[in-house]
Amino acid sequence: MAQPLPFRQTSGQLWMDGGFIDCDKATISILTHGLHYASSVFEGERAYGGKIFKSRQHTDRLINSCRLMGFALPYSAAEFERAKHELRERLGIEQAYVRPFAWRGSEQLGVSASANTIHAAISIWPMGTYFADKMKGIRLDIADWRRPPSACAPVKAKAAGLYMICTLSKDAAAAAGYNDALMLDYEGRIAECTGAHIFFVRDGELHTPSPEWILDGITRATVMEIAKARNLTVHERQILPDELNSFTECFIVGSAVEITPVNEIKGIAYTPGDISAQMIADYDTLVAGGTLS
Ligand SMILES: Cc1ncc(COP(=O)(O)O)c(C=O)c1O
Repeated sequence: MAQPLPFRQTSGQLWMDGGFIDCDKATISILTHGLHYASSVFEGERAYGGKIFKSRQHTDRLINSCRLMGFALPYSAAEFERAKHELRERLGIEQAYVRPFAWRGSEQLGVSASANTIHAAISIWPMGTYFADKMKGIRLDIADWRRPPSACAPVKAKAAGLYMICTLSKDAAAAAGYNDALMLDYEGRIAECTGAHIFFVRDGELHTPSPEWILDGITRATVMEIAKARNLTVHERQILPDELNSFTECFIVGSAVEITPVNEIKGIAYTPGDISAQMIADYDTLVAGGTLS
């Protein structure tokens, strides 16, 4: 018997355009602007023990992504929050991935899009760890594609179009035997992974790329909170690939990957140590609703 796909809601209801609907009845036109011209934005969140971690921050970022793409989410943050929480309750999934998204509809199919209505949906499905055995650490390739500067794309939007180069990079990394790819920015500095931010450790201090051209990360902000609580210095700065072999630990962070240790970046080895272990333990505490002692 075929196994269910891990990253797809295959049964139950989802929320779409203001109401709850059976998954198999949630359809859109094949001539949807969001499909042809990538006028679509999304979020990726997780629920732990039935509670969505930093849910409101994700909703606020979705609303901002819509704005940056030139349209407005046709729901208030409070309405969208209610929809998310009610859907999770209806489905009863405790450990879940939550995927809200919004897109331009099918009234106008051309580069111009102003006549299109805006649609939104939320899908939720069960999800365990992103990488099969994440505590073993992962191996990163360095992508050929580079993250664009803010003059070339709305880089702060979690917009579908920006993921084209992530998918190409992730699939190329997988074909070369790696788990994921580290992406450089347009000037060759370390930027982020295909769906996560990156931190390095050297001499007991954290280093992470400065945030100008990367997504405003919700997990990245959580790692900063943990670092503050643990009196760890964080350097947000420009990091060049030349420095990769000067760090001892490395981990990637994101709502889906959580905090995942890195063993290798294209031939350079790292040994997950005390700081990675502390971060993982503290993150697990926070997502479970606890506070740091
Ligand atoms: C390109 C990219 N960078 C970083 C992240 C991590 O962001 P967050 O911690 O808000 O999930 C994501 C995931 O959304 C992403 O897609």
